[in-house]
Amino acid sequence: MTRAMNGVSAMTSGTENVQAGRLEAVAAGLVEKIKERTARVGVVGLGYVGLPFAVEKAKVGFQVLGFDRNPARVAQVNEGRNYIGDVADQDMADLVRGRGRLEATGDWERLREMDVVVICVPTPLTRNLTPDLQYVEAVTAELAVRLRPGQLISLESTTYPGTTEEVMKPLLEASGLKAGDDFFLAFSPERVDPGNKRYSTRNTSKVVGAGDPASREVALAFYRQTILHVVPVSSSRAAEMVKVFENTFRAVNIALVNELAMLCDRMGLDVWEVLDAAGTKPFGIMSFYPGPGVGGHCIPLDPHYLEWKAREFNFNTRFIALAGEINRRMPEFVAEKTMRLLSERGLGLRGARILALGVAYKRDVDDPRESPSAEVFHLLVRHGAQVSYHDPLVPRFGEPGREWASVPLTARNLEEADLVLILTDHSAVDYGFVVRHARLLLDTRFATRGVPGAQDKVVLL
Ligand SMILES: NC(=O)c1ccc[n+]([C@@H]2O[C@H](COP(=O)([O-])OP(=O)(O)OC[C@H]3O[C@@H](n4cnc5c(N)ncnc54)[C@H](O)[C@@H]3O)[C@@H](O)[C@H]2O)c1
Repeated sequence: MTRAMNGVSAMTSGTENVQAGRLEAVAAGLVEKIKERTARVGVVGLGYVGLPFAVEKAKVGFQVLGFDRNPARVAQVNEGRNYIGDVADQDMADLVRGRGRLEATGDWERLREMDVVVICVPTPLTRNLTPDLQYVEAVTAELAVRLRPGQLISLESTTYPGTTEEVMKPLLEASGLKAGDDFFLAFSPERVDPGNKRYSTRNTSKVVGAGDPASREVALAFYRQTILHVVPVSSSRAAEMVKVFENTFRAVNIALVNELAMLCDRMGLDVWEVLDAAGTKPFGIMSFYPGPGVGGHCIPLDPHYLEWKAREFNFNTRFIALAGEINRRMPEFVAEKTMRLLSERGLGLRGARILALGVAYKRDVDDPRESPSAEVFHLLVRHGAQVSYHDPLVPRFGEPGREWASVPLTARNLEEADLVLILTDHSAVDYGFVVRHARLLLDTRFATRGVPGAQDKVVLL
């Protein structure tokens, strides 16, 4: 019996003792199923977060059912076809077609079969930079009408402190069942770092919080089955704050080095030399690198969730606002520097042929969401440049009406460009080949570090 459950049973006497005893039995029953790995696991939202999580759970022996509103994704999973970079194709084929441990559906009725439901749906922003919880709310509403006693519901989507208790709990309790009494409700933020070869779902420590002790114990038991190091915190609000803080920390530090890059440019200093040397200090410093701006589903968005919630407490999160301002300014800085380099060689941006390398928001991922490359392209095109790009992982980029297709990385395409602009430093690109054939390069990621001949042709951010 767990410490928390003992705490629950020690509440009072009489009717409450009977209730506490029932709760203890329900929680213990679910924990038992989890430990035996006979608990049925539902994963809602089979994207960058949900699919790797579902695969990890199925690999250790759980029967996993993925839910997604996108029928194409459901079909792909059921055919055992992988579509996420961090998942091994062989694992998918084996779990779906071989061992039959993983399947997917769009049928919400099947939520009733689940013992544990993990929610990994998007949490974007509205046009006014306020939280858009429509996906979390939609899934919670589907759950509420099918909720049964003894289920664990865990939210993994990044969100502001208070979402689980203030938004999800009332919707779920409208079913007549009570969180911490009849069902269990927790928040455990996903920390996956797409493309990271060293840290995967399994060896990245995971924070778990819940509004009541029984929910926390059940959730901890669940996550401990697949995650090597699970970190309990006192509430779901604390766990929600941990996640938005982590992403705010990155946004602020990236903004700091981006600002330094702009200052070094003005002062005629090499920011990379400065950062490399600063990074040799054995304590008190952490390396962050400048670039054309921030992208992806997390860093440009998540801090705004906290900024919005802070307003309810009459509090201005000034670091968040400043970091956003500086990071959003970077595409403009890159476009200005491109213009400057061309004009130093007697060329204007109008009519210039710019070949961009990399449009994904970061190295070695195929995800172009919120990529700063979009704004860089927009600014260059607005000034009359002819933009083309090569990205080995992103075949098409842009939006309907203004879409580009990746061109091959040939000697001719490089030679014909007035300027080659490195925006994402994918490791699959041969930068030696790029430097040999390009006439002039602006490298915003220092991808050409150590490449012979780079000093003659490459200008760094
Ligand atoms: N991508 C990352 O690196 C990352 C890392 C940590 C946390 N997160 C967070 O995890 C959450 C999910 O992000 P993601 O990158 O996996 O998103 P994603 O867009 O890759 O996947 C989301 C999936 O949810 C599905 N979906 C949307 N609404 C649905 C609904 N109502 N019912 C069922 N399925 C629905 C979509 O079809 C899609 O397959 C977000 O909150 C994000 O901030 C993402």
